Amino acid sequence: MPASLESGELIDHILTRYHDTHRRELPELIMLSRKVEAVHAGHSKAPAGLADVLQDMLGELEVHMKKGELILFPAMRRRAGPGLDAPIAQIRHDHDGHVEQLRKLERLTDNFIVPIDACRS
Ligand SMILES: [Fe+2]
Repeated sequence: MPASLESGELIDHILTRYHDTHRRELPELIMLSRKVEAVHAGHSKAPAGLADVLQDMLGELEVHMKKGELILFPAMRRRAGPGLDAPIAQIRHDHDGHVEQLRKLERLTDNFIVPIDACRS
């Protein structure tokens, strides 16, 4: 992604590349994780608790994405300057929480390494 994007273009990119993708893919990932956890419950590499973490992430992401869509992004499109500090600080605080959840995913999935005998799900 070019570093010279205008705010409006950057917002459009975030919405289509990230927000739309999270909303489309996370529910399917949760469903697949529940299936894998149930079917392979006895397997030592089965990611026990993965679906619950993904479910939490989806809930927190939905709130986070709404903050951008309803508050920060419209203000940025209007080029409101000083009033952006608080919503930006909030969004950054949310991102710190997302990093924690990604660390949990790393632990649960052995750094996203699929076991050699894993099924398609
Ligand atoms: Fe974000």
